[in-house]
Amino acid sequence: MDMKEIDGLRDDLVAQIADADLAVLEELRVRALGKKGAITQAMKGLGGADPEARKSLGQALNQAKGDISDAIDLRRTVLEDAGLEEQLAEEKIDVTLPARGASQGRLHPITQTLDECIAIFGEMGFTVAEGPDIEDDFHNFTALNIPAEHPARQMHDTFYLPANENGERPVLRTHTSPVQIRTMENSQPPIRVIAPGRTYRCDSDATHTPMFHQIEALVVDETTHLGHLKGCIIDFVRAFFDIPDLGVRFRPSYFPFTEPSMEVDIACDRSGGAMVIGQGNDWLEIMGSGMVHRNVLSAGGIDPDRYQGFAFGMGIDRIAMLKYGIPDLRTFFEADLRWLRHYGFVPLDVPSMVRGLSS
Ligand code: DAH
Repeated sequence: MDMKEIDGLRDDLVAQIADADLAVLEELRVRALGKKGAITQAMKGLGGADPEARKSLGQALNQAKGDISDAIDLRRTVLEDAGLEEQLAEEKIDVTLPARGASQGRLHPITQTLDECIAIFGEMGFTVAEGPDIEDDFHNFTALNIPAEHPARQMHDTFYLPANENGERPVLRTHTSPVQIRTMENSQPPIRVIAPGRTYRCDSDATHTPMFHQIEALVVDETTHLGHLKGCIIDFVRAFFDIPDLGVRFRPSYFPFTEPSMEVDIACDRSGGAMVIGQGNDWLEIMGSGMVHRNVLSAGGIDPDRYQGFAFGMGIDRIAMLKYGIPDLRTFFEADLRWLRHYGFVPLDVPSMVRGLSS
């Protein structure tokens, strides 16, 4: 290569570099300055030239090499800056867009109502007891003084399961009262428990669903009498409905597992079409209650000559409907999120006795 050729090569490459994109730029670099590039090869070839020419050609080649690499660096910087600019322009973040808001779940009215019941009874010294949904005939009926052929069995619209190896048909418990028996079997007086849970009856309309919820209470010791029963229930309904002077009426009734038995009514007003609790001269039945029958104490393994107590049971769904003005029981179990958003409760960030201490 002579001087002219070196200058020509350099000018040509520098011109191409000025228009190259990043890929072409790399190609040009390899072509000129790579191991087998034109400039590199020419430098290697200098060894054969005479010393005078070698010096001037060497200088020229070095100069060309420097010019080409400067041109490449410059072009690369320009291209990279332009790329960054383009990216910045494209990826603009619109900070004025409204945020999408995290959606918050709601507590089902039954959960809420259960929380309230447990809080009120918890204050009174009750603990929570549980029993199985699938019961045997003994705990659901016989031990509760409802022998076979007793008419009360018909009233329960029982779901029976296929017979087991003993020829007995388990039932879906028709009430939470069997937990009374299980509690007595497993503990000694004094007993003070509430037993909330699912119950089942073959029935369905606006106020009945095949699965529903009850809460049972059982107190057994040596001295508890009917006055305590009345005081406990009156305190509970007044606290639950948050009406300090709510009228409460005890009406004689019959349950096989209590003697005497009473149904409990609360004052209400139906005259305006909608029902208002705590006003007017009408009454609304909300639970069954009574002094635990001696046969029930005996069935639970407790001496009825020494111990006595009271029990009551009510529908959780029913008192939830009354307190929160929910007209149709079936909607509780349809899992409709719009319904839950309307009737559900925003969970408070406080410990719940039902849902555990870590909220
Ligand atoms: N087990 C009854 C029912 O399901 C409710 C009931 C009535 C429970 C009186 C009781 C009671 O504990 O004493 O209809």
